[in-house]
Amino acid sequence: MMKAAQIFSYGAPDVLTVGEVERPEPGPGQVLVGVAASSVNGHDALVRSGAMKIVSGRRFPIGVGLDFAGFVAAVGTGVDSVRPGEPVWGTVHPREKHAVAGAAEFVVVAADRVAPMPDGMSAVRAAALVVPGITALAALRGATHLQAGESVLVRGAAGGVGTAAVQLAHALGGRVTALARTRHTSALTDLGAERVLDYRETTPDDAGTFDVIVDTVGTDLARYRRRLTKGGRMVTVGLSGPAIAAIAASAVFGSRRIRTFSADPRTAQLTELTELVTAGAIVPVIDGVYPLTDITAAHRAFDRGGAVGRQMVQISEIGSTDR
Ligand SMILES: NC(=O)c1ccc[n+]([C@@H]2O[C@H](COP(=O)([O-])OP(=O)(O)OC[C@H]3O[C@@H](n4cnc5c(N)ncnc54)[C@H](OP(=O)(O)O)[C@@H]3O)[C@@H](O)[C@H]2O)c1
Repeated sequence: MMKAAQIFSYGAPDVLTVGEVERPEPGPGQVLVGVAASSVNGHDALVRSGAMKIVSGRRFPIGVGLDFAGFVAAVGTGVDSVRPGEPVWGTVHPREKHAVAGAAEFVVVAADRVAPMPDGMSAVRAAALVVPGITALAALRGATHLQAGESVLVRGAAGGVGTAAVQLAHALGGRVTALARTRHTSALTDLGAERVLDYRETTPDDAGTFDVIVDTVGTDLARYRRRLTKGGRMVTVGLSGPAIAAIAASAVFGSRRIRTFSADPRTAQLTELTELVTAGAIVPVIDGVYPLTDITAAHRAFDRGGAVGRQMVQISEIGSTDR
């Protein structure tokens, strides 16, 4: 048996329970990961609250914890990409329902959803970077092809995805303006922002014009799109009903339309992220660390907002060194 965080109904963080469930076994092409750390992503809060029930359905229990880092406990037949004992990071499938997910002592995933963890990184720090790092890469290298010297606006800059996007945009040579709370100015400047504007006092018209806009909020999209320079590109990952309408309506603007995607971390993207970590281009940003038994408090902290970076869930101690 093993401990796992699950929900038996949708709602506020107190619907989360940590109980004993059967330890899973890896099937062909799968890996059993002994999880040391997981995190609270926007996705996890949406699953827990029921906002994603179109995907997660109405059959409980449902597991939470998209990201994880830990070690390979066992591999199924046909898996030779990782070996038992190897430290790995990865995600469960982001668009499938899971009775047990990353916030558990063990999780089974397809082998192409893990990759070796960056050398010398603790599992708590690694698990903070998986979806944020992959999403920032897909937004800046994939969707908008940020070029050195271009101006970039990151909306939601102090969040999990935002802190990764600020760092990656800076590492790619972008001149970064961060929209966040003023009290996060020094943290975001340290991550590479040239300018920090308070989102509660800044209208899209005040912010300036930008070659690239990375939005993680999903509101006011049409107004921000108008702040693009000629040849500018914009991407949003904060998908709400109004965001989807704004994205569809922007199709008439060709290359200056609002782009979006759904991050799908696989071994190749995790390996690309490892290279950036190794080069010192991106570090995990963590706000708080909670034991698995207190995952409710981690979700409450996420829902409260006002943080810089991720709320983490620690499940066991592995990978003691820090980078
Ligand atoms: N499509 C994809 O592939 C993909 C991948 C990853 C994440 N996502 C989505 O992206 C969104 C962000 O995820 P996350 O994990 O980064 O969440 P997060 O850590 O909660 O970050 C969201 C940030 O947005 C800030 N914010 C809220 N309202 C704002 C506003 N009006 N203007 C500017 N900033 C504002 C928040 O600041 P305060 O807390 O200070 O208010 C917070 O720092 C979520 O909806 C998530 O589901 C999508």
